[in-house]
Amino acid sequence: MTSAHTSNAAVGEDFAKVSATFSGNVDDPFPIYRQHRLTNPVIEGDIVTQFGSAGFTAASKPRPVYTLFKYHDVMAVLKDPKKYTSGFLMEGGMASFMDGFALTAMDGDVHRQARGLLQPCFAPNVLKEWRATRIDPVICNDFVAPLVARGSAELVADMALMFPIRVIYDLLGFPADDADGLARFASTALRVLGGVSPDPEAKKAAMLAAKELYDDTLKVVQARRAAGATGDDMISRLIRSSFEGNTLSDHQITMFARMLLPAAAETTTRSFATLMVLLLERPELLERIRADRSLVGKAIDESIRYEPVATFKVRETEEDVTFQGVAIAKGSLLSLCVASANRDDDVFEDGDTFNIDRPSKMSFGFGFGAHMCVGLFIAKAEIEVALNSMLDMMPNLEFDPAYPRPTIRGIQLRGPEAVHVRWKV
Ligand code: HEM
Repeated sequence: MTSAHTSNAAVGEDFAKVSATFSGNVDDPFPIYRQHRLTNPVIEGDIVTQFGSAGFTAASKPRPVYTLFKYHDVMAVLKDPKKYTSGFLMEGGMASFMDGFALTAMDGDVHRQARGLLQPCFAPNVLKEWRATRIDPVICNDFVAPLVARGSAELVADMALMFPIRVIYDLLGFPADDADGLARFASTALRVLGGVSPDPEAKKAAMLAAKELYDDTLKVVQARRAAGATGDDMISRLIRSSFEGNTLSDHQITMFARMLLPAAAETTTRSFATLMVLLLERPELLERIRADRSLVGKAIDESIRYEPVATFKVRETEEDVTFQGVAIAKGSLLSLCVASANRDDDVFEDGDTFNIDRPSKMSFGFGFGAHMCVGLFIAKAEIEVALNSMLDMMPNLEFDPAYPRPTIRGIQLRGPEAVHVRWKV
């Protein structure tokens, strides 16, 4: 692909719109979350909307809402998908664009069946193959190597915005030499996510984008099936997949490919940019990792704990329940503050400190339980390849002093807007 970077302006605009929708009016909510864990670990209302950010509870029909801040409460909800369901997501938000295969909004056996059909695409041997043939070459050769001679870059615009989209585009098996197709694909993906905004214009744009994406993808799925679906790409693998006697229709595969985009692009972009900020703020740690690459995985896990990009999960309770002495009626929505739970000192000693040497424990940056991120190993592989390639090719990597230091901000979606860096050429 020669012009991986040509469409960055358009994609950047859409990215900025999404950020504005989900950023809210408090840059650093962590002291507030800490206070809640200490004194008020369950509150009535959704703190996401109280902070002025769009969110999933506001997009669904009105119900009582409670926010939960403690690790064990969040864990109890996420690990019991019978008692705490996700179907309400079909009422609004992203899932309303996903009619027919809305994985995140599925419950029970329907969800289990769907995960079973997808699993062959996310097995370790497939990831190993894709990492070698698609992920590594795309990120290393098309994104990092072309930047090296420049000696400086803005990591969000020059790399992070496009490489996850480009990887998904490649995994789906879309033509690698179609720059316009890729640009269209990227921009529509972000507009679909923007549809969670309360702004009716954004909703309209998201519907149109979702339709565009559907039509483009369906054609590819149909053509691939007609050609025998023998390839190692994701669409071919999904066509061949079967689970408990069921297979996926062209419509379902198209819906899944479409939902993958908002799920896989924006999240990886922000997670990578966040990791880079956390490491660049700690030059000694960055050098330690440069010298010992076995630490890369730990750094990624700790970054996803400390600064998760997807900061809230929402579930509906199917029974009357009580958390921390607060009675919550059946049918209420629970807004689970993952960003808070991930720093709960009950589980993570000195939780507000970024420490890659802490003992490894489950955090919720990729969710937990039945809906846990199906692409988490792909995401981690992408971030690992990106960081390793930069460490290999960019000596003395540091913040560019010509620009202000980036801040990681946002309520519903967190990350830095821009990360200016320089290195020795
Ligand atoms: C660092 C990047 C990523 C982060 C932080 C992330 C985070 C998450 C989280 C928190 C969930 C749980 C949603 C819930 O509980 O309702 C989720 C689900 C999901 N993710 Fe990811 N994700 C990332 C990358 C990816 C990638 C690369 C893919 C695909 C290649 C992907 C595909 C999905 C899908 C399909 C689901 C829905 C699973 C289900 O509902 O059963 N994600 N992700």
